[in-house]
Amino acid sequence: MSRFAERLIGWQREHGRHDLPWQVADAYRVWLSEIMLQQTQVTTVIDYYQRFLLRFPDIASLASAPLDDVLALWSGLGYYTRARNLHKAAQMVMTDFGGTFPRAPAEIETLPGIGRSTAAAIAAFSFDTRSAILDGNVKRVLARWAGIDGFPGQKAIENKLWTLADSLLPASGSDMPAYTQAQMDLGATVCTPKKPACLACPVSDDCIARMTGRQTELPTPKPK
Ligand code: ADE
Repeated sequence: MSRFAERLIGWQREHGRHDLPWQVADAYRVWLSEIMLQQTQVTTVIDYYQRFLLRFPDIASLASAPLDDVLALWSGLGYYTRARNLHKAAQMVMTDFGGTFPRAPAEIETLPGIGRSTAAAIAAFSFDTRSAILDGNVKRVLARWAGIDGFPGQKAIENKLWTLADSLLPASGSDMPAYTQAQMDLGATVCTPKKPACLACPVSDDCIARMTGRQTELPTPKPK
């Protein structure tokens, strides 16, 4: 396995989050959490997540519910397109996938509201699939660590980051939940946008941004 992955997994064991309610190998629960977490903070999501699951304990109950009931449970979270997509996707799981959440990232990605990175996160957490994530936090971590210049919102840079992310995956699928959570936690707590805590970082030794003092210059901001 890459030394990068090895160090992140070790860090996750010691310093990462292990008490989040969606840290379960269940695709429906992981999916729901990832959608809620797309635009909402962990502390806010926890309550909504628990209430949502009490009312819709499985995909079938969500699919057969009136949309208004779903929107009512979403009330306060904002970005209601997420709830509409979730409802529509649950119906597609019932009709197109026989009621079983699909395992392959390429199939997961066909569901509304799920892009490449979210599909990979769901597969990694639920099915131990070796699929790389690349959300905003991970783009920052990788752009700094590998010293990748250029705005990550630009296709060529994004492709570079995806290729790098693929190359760093652990060899074993069983390490994927810890590795995936590690990247999210590192980006959220250590490799933060403004004042990264490089002294607490497991990959600072060979981080290009750190070695060149360019932590706050990378990733390159959006060109004006
Ligand atoms: N943000 C997005 N996905 C997350 C997860 N699984 N845990 C914590 N924060 C997240």
